[in-house]
Amino acid sequence: MARTRLLFGLLVVSHCLASPHSYSLLQDRDDAHDVYDYVVVGGGTAGLTVADRLSESGRYTVLAVEYGILEPDGRRGRTNMYNITSVPQVNLNNRTFPVDVGCIVGGSSAVNAQAFQRGTKRDYNNWAELSGVNNSSWNWDDLQPYFRKAIQLGSGPHPDIARFYNMTYNPGSYGTNTSKHSIFATFSRGHSPAVIPLYQSLREYPGVNIPIDHSVGAVGLAWTPRSMDPISLNRSYSRTGHYDGLDRDNYHLITATRVERVVFKGKTADGVEISPRWPAEDHEGKGKGKGRNKGKGNGKRIIKARKEVILSAGAIHTPQILQLSGVGPAPLLKKAKIPVIVDLPGVGANLQDHAYQPALQFNWTSPPPHPEVNTTLPPAETFVFGPGLNLMMGLPGISPARYQSLAASYLAQSPDQFFPPGTHPTIIAGYAQQQRLYAAGMLDKDFAFSATGMGGIPVAAPQLMHGLSRGTVTLNLTSPLSEPIVDYRFASNPLDLEIVAENIKFFRRFYTGPDSTLKQYVNLTLGEIQPGPGYKSDEELKEWLRANLVPSVFHPSGTAAKMPREWGGVVGEGLEVYGVKRLSVVDTSIFPTIVGSTTSMTVYAAAEKAADLIKERA
Ligand SMILES: Cc1cc2nc3c(=O)[nH]c(=O)nc-3n(C[C@H](O)[C@H](O)[C@H](O)COP(=O)(O)OP(=O)(O)OC[C@H]3O[C@@H](n4cnc5c(N)ncnc54)[C@H](O)[C@@H]3O)c2cc1C
Ligand SMILES: *[C@@H]1O[C@H](CO)[C@@H](O)[C@H](O)[C@H]1NC(C)=O
Ligand SMILES: *[C@@H]1O[C@H](CO)[C@@H](O)[C@H](O)[C@H]1NC(C)=O
Ligand SMILES: *[C@@H]1O[C@H](CO)[C@@H](O)[C@H](O)[C@H]1NC(C)=O
Ligand SMILES: *[C@@H]1O[C@H](CO)[C@@H](O)[C@H](O)[C@H]1NC(C)=O
Ligand SMILES: *[C@@H]1O[C@H](CO)[C@@H](O)[C@H](O)[C@H]1NC(C)=O
Ligand SMILES: *[C@@H]1O[C@H](CO)[C@@H](O)[C@H](O)[C@H]1NC(C)=O
Ligand SMILES: *[C@@H]1O[C@H](CO)[C@@H](O)[C@H](O)[C@H]1NC(C)=O
Ligand SMILES: *[C@@H]1O[C@H](CO)[C@@H](O)[C@H](O)[C@H]1NC(C)=O
Ligand SMILES: *[C@@H]1O[C@H](CO)[C@@H](O)[C@H](O)[C@H]1NC(C)=O
Ligand SMILES: *[C@@H]1O[C@H](CO)[C@@H](O)[C@H](O)[C@H]1NC(C)=O
Ligand SMILES: *[C@@H]1O[C@H](CO)[C@@H](O)[C@H](O)[C@H]1NC(C)=O
Repeated sequence: MARTRLLFGLLVVSHCLASPHSYSLLQDRDDAHDVYDYVVVGGGTAGLTVADRLSESGRYTVLAVEYGILEPDGRRGRTNMYNITSVPQVNLNNRTFPVDVGCIVGGSSAVNAQAFQRGTKRDYNNWAELSGVNNSSWNWDDLQPYFRKAIQLGSGPHPDIARFYNMTYNPGSYGTNTSKHSIFATFSRGHSPAVIPLYQSLREYPGVNIPIDHSVGAVGLAWTPRSMDPISLNRSYSRTGHYDGLDRDNYHLITATRVERVVFKGKTADGVEISPRWPAEDHEGKGKGKGRNKGKGNGKRIIKARKEVILSAGAIHTPQILQLSGVGPAPLLKKAKIPVIVDLPGVGANLQDHAYQPALQFNWTSPPPHPEVNTTLPPAETFVFGPGLNLMMGLPGISPARYQSLAASYLAQSPDQFFPPGTHPTIIAGYAQQQRLYAAGMLDKDFAFSATGMGGIPVAAPQLMHGLSRGTVTLNLTSPLSEPIVDYRFASNPLDLEIVAENIKFFRRFYTGPDSTLKQYVNLTLGEIQPGPGYKSDEELKEWLRANLVPSVFHPSGTAAKMPREWGGVVGEGLEVYGVKRLSVVDTSIFPTIVGSTTSMTVYAAAEKAADLIKERA
């Protein structure tokens, strides 16, 4: 149907034309005003949240500019994803990895796996420490009201399911607003009963804590909700919670439109330069009729912001836009022939993500027995949604024998030791602060170093939650407008692989060690399939990891960090970019350190707080 095609990169989906859900979506990007109070760059997770909050009073005009289109959520091939590949990871046998980011209205919240968690207390208290001020409100206690504003409890588990699986959860961690303009955390209605023997075995395993759930800021074995509508069970994401059904004259969204750079007047952000994602001439035959881009030359246009430009393009593209705008490391900008507005070495530095190792696998003599699923529950209630049970472990639990020596080796490192020569001293100074905090975290059983989803046996691939290496996002110097160059630099700090190796040993002990209650089911003659009997010593395990570990689970963070400028930070406590006026960042880029959990819930809370800060200074 012609109507469901793109017209010159403008979204024209027939059911949306008629639907009130697309009220603020401009059918023609040229209909956008020349000036708004706020221009939000990126209609993703943070972007739509902030745009909703800034436009809700009706007092301010808001434009959100999104490169993707308004289309159904979910991941269908690569059509709604960016196509970015990391540079070869020299410490992982030069393998390259996909850098997946959602390219769609809703951003990564529209394509993610919907595991909905917040980090532990130490994660956010570290953020406050990394603020360099003694009264930071970016700490665990002060952020909790924003988590409750951002995330509503859709529903807890069905009581019979909860009883069957021993599920507990803390309702007070979430808000209770049932407005459809909300983001919901909803517990799955069903789980595989194969998790029950795992649950029972882990709860008795030394060092495993059972908190009421992870939302109280603790590690251990607990049940995780999903970002899901409690009634339709559809994905709950920034589009459904902060865009659909909003009926506001003062709020516009344009799609299939790229923000190339922020435009400055002196050192004040004055607006953005936009260009169509698909230039008219490339879309012969699709530009007829309504929605046609009237195409002024190459389609570039400047839209001004009276109050602020807010960058919410995600941790991969926000630093790229800053660099293209002349805000970034001066030596890089000079090489790219971009006039320097502010020399800010931290733009694109401090990249962090979670890494994962493939799961351990054994031959089982017989799988551990589990009770049958309760078939007397209504069918929808027994639907299996994948792992809802998660094990988070601090280093003392993962490696009772080595955690102290690992922490001591880490603390003994010189902070510049694993950065490339010539790294700016402010980046090293910031890392030195992170090193001090992570070394303390390594001694804390409640600071997550590993997280593992449990759908049954074998368990999912365990993740490293607080890697010690730091990567970069930089312009492609031969083609600055192409996708930026992403280098995780994973395992540039060799302790990363040591820590993951300890986690392999933890699971080996759990399955087959003296304290294991599962080893009776493992065929110890056939033994371990993966990594396998050839990988025993630390050196062998690290060799296996170099060949098998994946450095990202698509949680990129930290590339425009909220830290003091002298620590390599890019934004301060109010999320305003250093050295310029009227420019702020609201997305995972601002995380000084990645949280020990999935990232989207924290993005929503941070965006709610950001909206308040922005309104305060309006
Ligand atoms: C495949 C996948 C699985 C994940 N699984 C989970 C999970 O289970 N649980 C969880 O909590 N988190 C998960 N995450 C991570 C989480 O979704 C992200 O951390 C979070 O959504 C990021 O929010 P953001 O606002 O920082 O950026 P995004 O939501 O990515 O938004 C950035 C937006 O900016 C737009 N944009 C970029 N550049 C430009 C430009 N130049 N001009 C205009 N627009 C631009 C993008 O198209 C995008 O819409 C997953 C992510 C992915 C990709
Ligand atoms: C990524 O590639 C797919 C085709 O494989 C394409 O449909 C999609 O538009 C590309 N994404 C972007 C952001 O260009
Ligand atoms: C990775 O690539 C670099 C640069 O090309 C090369 O020096 C190095 O030997 C390679 N490493 C491996 C393990 O292949
Ligand atoms: C916080 O720092 C300010 C100066 O920066 C100082 O005057 C004040 O006493 C400090 N407050 C606390 C509680 O340490
Ligand atoms: C912290 O102190 C500074 C300087 O006194 C002040 O400007 C700022 O508003 C305070 N912040 C908070 C969150 O109290
Ligand atoms: C639930 O917890 C109780 C103790 O609190 C324990 O006896 C029981 O075995 C657990 N049930 C399951 C299914 O794990
Ligand atoms: C509930 O959420 C809606 C949408 O964000 C908001 O307008 C309303 O004020 C909220 N109600 C309460 C009681 O917070
Ligand atoms: C749930 O999603 C389906 C498929 O996208 C859609 O048809 C339906 O309207 C959605 N339901 C609600 C309540 O949003
Ligand atoms: C061991 O398990 C693997 C994976 O399940 C299977 O492919 C293999 O056949 C098993 N080996 C034996 C001897 O059963
Ligand atoms: C383990 O597997 C081997 C090879 O298939 C088999 O001979 C042996 O009986 C199994 N051991 C047990 C305890 O089932
Ligand atoms: C199974 O579900 C039914 C209906 O909800 C409930 O009455 C019953 O107690 C459940 N049985 C078990 C063993 O959980
Ligand atoms: C930089 O861009 C050029 C031109 O698009 C491309 O050929 C090259 O592969 C890119 N470099 C990297 C490292 O991605």
